[in-house]
Amino acid sequence: MNVLVFKNIFRQPGINPVLYLKQLILICLLLQGCSSGKSEDKESQEATEVNISKSVFGALPDGRSADLYTLKNANGMVVKISNYGGTITYWSAPDKEGKYADITLGCDSLQGYLKGVPYFGALIGRYGNRIANGKFTLEGKAYLLAKNNGVNALHGGIKGFDKVLWEATPVDGEEPQLMLKYISADGEEGYPGTLTTEVTYTLLKDNSLKIEYSAATDKATVVNLTNHAYFNLSGDMSREILDHEVSIKADKFLPVNETLIPTGELKSVSGTVFDFNKSTKIGTGINNLKDQQIVYGKGYDHCWVFSDTSKTLKSVAKVYEPASGRLMEVLTTEPAIQFYSGNFLDGTIKGKGGIVYKHRSGLCLETQHYPDSPNQSGFPSTVLKPGERYNTVTVYKFSAN
Ligand code: GLA
Repeated sequence: MNVLVFKNIFRQPGINPVLYLKQLILICLLLQGCSSGKSEDKESQEATEVNISKSVFGALPDGRSADLYTLKNANGMVVKISNYGGTITYWSAPDKEGKYADITLGCDSLQGYLKGVPYFGALIGRYGNRIANGKFTLEGKAYLLAKNNGVNALHGGIKGFDKVLWEATPVDGEEPQLMLKYISADGEEGYPGTLTTEVTYTLLKDNSLKIEYSAATDKATVVNLTNHAYFNLSGDMSREILDHEVSIKADKFLPVNETLIPTGELKSVSGTVFDFNKSTKIGTGINNLKDQQIVYGKGYDHCWVFSDTSKTLKSVAKVYEPASGRLMEVLTTEPAIQFYSGNFLDGTIKGKGGIVYKHRSGLCLETQHYPDSPNQSGFPSTVLKPGERYNTVTVYKFSAN
C-alpha cells in the first residue's frame, strides 16, 4: 500500500520528486531520533527502578511500628527484612529450572514473631551462642548476664538483638541495601559498655546476600554477632532437611558438655559423623547415638572451626538439595560456624502459609566466633575495647545445578 501511495504522489502534477524524496529522508531521520529517544527513556526508567521498598509490618506492644523492606535484584531474587530484630522473613532462590521459591522458615506477620520463635532469620547479639552459667570476667570485673537457656546465656539474653527495633536506612540501586543500626545501652542484658552496632544487608547481582557487621563500644565488652536464618532449600518447609548435602571446610569441631558449652577441646572430625569435608547427607550421621556428641546436641548443634584461619572472606561451607538442585555457599571472615540441624523444632510452631515446622525442617549455618569464648582463654578473643572496631562479613550465595 505504501508503494501505491508513493507512485500516486509522483503522478500528481506540481510535485517535485527530488524535493519530495529529500523531505521523506528528513522525516525518516526525525523518526529515528524519536526511537533512540525511546530507548533513552527506557534506560532512565531502569535507572530509577525501585529495588527496595518499604511497608508496615505491624505494631509492637509499646506502640512503635515495625517495617518490612523488600529487596530484589534483576534476576528475580527477593529478600524481605524487618527492622524488628533485623529479621529475614522471606528469601527466594532459584531451582535448577530457574524457578524461585522461598527457602527460609519464618512467620507471615509480626505477631507470629512476637509470640516467640527460635530466632527465625534474626540478627543475634550481643553474643551469638552460649556463655556458660551466664557470667564472665573481663579486666578483673565479673559480669552477670541474663540466663535464658537453662543455666546458660544464649544469643544475647532474654531480649537480644533479635527482639529490638533497629533504625533502618534503605539504599536503592542495582544492588539494594538495608542499613540497620542499634545502640545497646551499657548494662543491657548484663553486658558492659554502650555498644553501637551496624548491620548492612546487600542483595548482590549474583544472587548473594552479603551481611556486614560492625560495632564499637565505650567500655571493654564481648561481641559475637551472627544471623540465625533457617534454610530448607527444597522450598517445601513441611519436609525435613535430612536429604540436604552439607560440606564444611573444617578439620576440627568443638565438643560440648550436656548443656552445649564447649569443653575447650578442639577435636579432629576425622573418622566421626562430624566430618563434612566431603559433601555428606545430613541424615547419614545425625542419628548416630553411639556418638556422645550427637546425644548431647540431639543431632548437630555444634561449632566447626575452619581449617583456613585467615580473616579474609573465604568459602567455608556449602549446602546442596538434590531434588531442587539449589546450592547455597557460605563465605565468611569469621573463624567458625555453628551448624544447627533444627533439633528443637518440634511441630508446635505454625509458620508461613500455616505450615507446621516439624522436627529438623530447617537448618542453620551461623558464622561466628566460638561459643563461651569469654570464659575460655584458649579460644580466639571476642573482646572489643573502646577505640577498636568489630568488623565481620558473611555472604550466602545461591545457584542451582
Ligand atoms: C542455636 C543453638 C541451638 C538452639 C537454637 C535455637 O543454634 O545452638 O541450641 O538454641 O539456636 O533454637
